[in-house]
Amino acid sequence: MACTVVLITGCSSGIGLHLAVRLASDPSQSFKVYATMRDLKTQGQLWEAARAQGCPRDSLETLQLDVRDSKSVANAQACVTEGRVDILVCNAGQGLLGPLEALGEDAVGSVLDVNVAGTVRMLQAFLPEMKRRGSGRVLVTGSMGGLMGLPFNDVYCASKFALEGLCESLAVLLPPFGVHVSLIECGPVHTPFMQKVLGGPGWMLDRTDTRTRRLFHQYLQHNKEIFREAAQHPEEVVEVFLTALRAPKPALRYFTTERFLPLQQMRLDDPSGSSYVAAMHRNVFPKEPAEAEAGAGAGGVGDPELGDTLAAPQ
Ligand SMILES: NC(=O)c1ccc[n+]([C@@H]2O[C@H](COP(=O)([O-])OP(=O)(O)OC[C@H]3O[C@@H](n4cnc5c(N)ncnc54)[C@H](OP(=O)(O)O)[C@@H]3O)[C@@H](O)[C@H]2O)c1
Repeated sequence: MACTVVLITGCSSGIGLHLAVRLASDPSQSFKVYATMRDLKTQGQLWEAARAQGCPRDSLETLQLDVRDSKSVANAQACVTEGRVDILVCNAGQGLLGPLEALGEDAVGSVLDVNVAGTVRMLQAFLPEMKRRGSGRVLVTGSMGGLMGLPFNDVYCASKFALEGLCESLAVLLPPFGVHVSLIECGPVHTPFMQKVLGGPGWMLDRTDTRTRRLFHQYLQHNKEIFREAAQHPEEVVEVFLTALRAPKPALRYFTTERFLPLQQMRLDDPSGSSYVAAMHRNVFPKEPAEAEAGAGAGGVGDPELGDTLAAPQ
């Protein structure tokens, strides 16, 4: 029987790495995995994990693929010796954290390029062949940040919201072509993502006001707690990818955790957005008033008390 050819972006670490190794070491030995990464110098960890899992030698191959560069996408595609990709996993992603006014133009451009345009590039390259063949699956690593706005994640959320629109639109079109698109909606996951995130506590915070800096500090504490309480192991998340790719009729969305579904439900129940905005504000900033009080402005830019802590590099 012909093997199932899978190509995954962003396999140097985290979810992509775990998914590549999980599929390549599947007991069915039915997958051929192309684990791609933008810099092949970072492939060591993947091979270490593959060895530990006893992946058969020809089940896993690495390819250079930078989703920001269509030539690199085309080169990787040309290296797929089977001449087809049955399952495309658009997983590469970059985070960006901080008050909007403190974000550099390059960082904003980079996150939108990787997360949004990068996914579009991958789909433009691989969908036509799937449509011609009348079969194929696309899995996209989504995020709770693509379903609900999160303070200080404005641009990251914008990029992940964009993926929702992209995938939902394609999911309407593609089933008659035998092609299915699914989003794997992740909550917090223990990966190097937060270490690689652009921005962070010390990032150009002199560009923002004292009050915003204080709220950012509160957000970072909140984020730490959420990760401590709720972050999943990538192996748990990878099982949800497997559920999606084995489903006879794949759904558009799969959730790796139910923890955030009540908030998602609140957004659907009150389309005005007011209930969600108030609930999230209470959640993240429990001590802050939800509405501006008379005379409460932004404050100055130089808060000597907070300055040192917030300026510390992450
Ligand atoms: N971890 C979480 O809490 C979480 C939650 C929700 C959604 N997600 C999503 O999960 C996906 C995977 O993230 P992760 O958590 O596994 O973090 P990760 O370990 O940082 O993985 C991100 C991967 O994307 C790659 N990447 C970045 N820019 C790229 C580019 N231009 N071309 C190709 N690859 C590129 C990274 O490569 P380098 O090593 O070269 O940077 C890395 O391999 C992302 O889409 C992220 O948005 C993560």
